[in-house]
Amino acid sequence: MITAENLTKVYGRNLEPALKSASFEINDGEIVGFAGLNGAGKTTTLRLISGIIVPSSGSVKVDGKDIVKEKIAASRNLAIVPELPNFDITQKAIPLLHYYAGFYGMDKEDTDRRIETLLKTFDIWDARNKKLRTYSQGMKKRFSIVSALLSDPKNILYDETLNGLDPEGVRSMRMLMLDQKKQGKAVFLSSHILSELQNIADRVMIIKKGSIIKILERSELPSLGASSVRIVVSNPDSKMIEILQQYGSVEQSGNEFLVSDLKVSYEKAGLLNGDLAKAGYIVTKFDISGEGLEHYFLSLVGGSGV
Ligand SMILES: Nc1ncnc2c1ncn2[C@@H]1O[C@H](COP(=O)(O)OP(=O)(O)OP(=O)(O)O)[C@@H](O)[C@H]1O
Ligand SMILES: [Mg+2]
Repeated sequence: MITAENLTKVYGRNLEPALKSASFEINDGEIVGFAGLNGAGKTTTLRLISGIIVPSSGSVKVDGKDIVKEKIAASRNLAIVPELPNFDITQKAIPLLHYYAGFYGMDKEDTDRRIETLLKTFDIWDARNKKLRTYSQGMKKRFSIVSALLSDPKNILYDETLNGLDPEGVRSMRMLMLDQKKQGKAVFLSSHILSELQNIADRVMIIKKGSIIKILERSELPSLGASSVRIVVSNPDSKMIEILQQYGSVEQSGNEFLVSDLKVSYEKAGLLNGDLAKAGYIVTKFDISGEGLEHYFLSLVGGSGV
């Protein structure tokens, strides 16, 4: 469990803090998304949590231990997958992982087994005897994930980890995070794309210019950005209204229907057209208003950079 209280960071002589008095919790068994544009303060927040940098004021506790005052105890069960790989690329995978395992005081046999499992899971087992310098970007990212997960930490910070992975890599990361959640771990995932967090996070915190401006519950995410669908049908009947009601609340005026308070995402609202056609209704007009989740996100954080 991670608890941040009034966390603030001012870099050097900057006037504007990169993070302003942020307070939040990431509970055990929870995946929290962290969305914001470039420069909004995501990496700063993750680095503060992991103790790489120290706050100007405020505090972070990991499983109740202060990351500044009790750094060793607080770090024991915490790992960060950094935005950019920061390992020694002149090394080969296996010796470097053994070196890391030494820090955690891991048992030799456990280490061998865990290294093999992780390298296979992340599909870099075949490259285990090559220098990390020869890895592709995605392979380096996968290696960063393996390094972070080596000690099986209870609290995991992922900084833009889905970004840069191929679709297969994204899929396995999502499955891995859901599994970590099931195991009761606290998972924090940053992204500059809100929809990337949509189907995985229990909550999403939105950061803009160093301030957390909104916290969205998972249930709120699907319908954001879609507001209503206006439909004209030549041959309506009461059965058709039942179909419409599965998508939202329905108002009728002759042959025209307005479905609002949508229960589904912007993308899924489009499926209503197919549902009606399949059931034999002749749809002569079908207009979805609203512009999708990313549009909603940009309207919130401002589209012009930070
Ligand atoms: N070491 C540093 N020294 C001075 N300013 C910094 C430093 N690191 C970050 N900043 C500033 O702090 C602000 C937040 O940066 P941060 O890296 O936390 O953003 P981010 O949300 O992770 O962005 P991105 O999506 O580009 O990774 C930016 O204005 C950035 O210029
Ligand atoms: Mg960043």
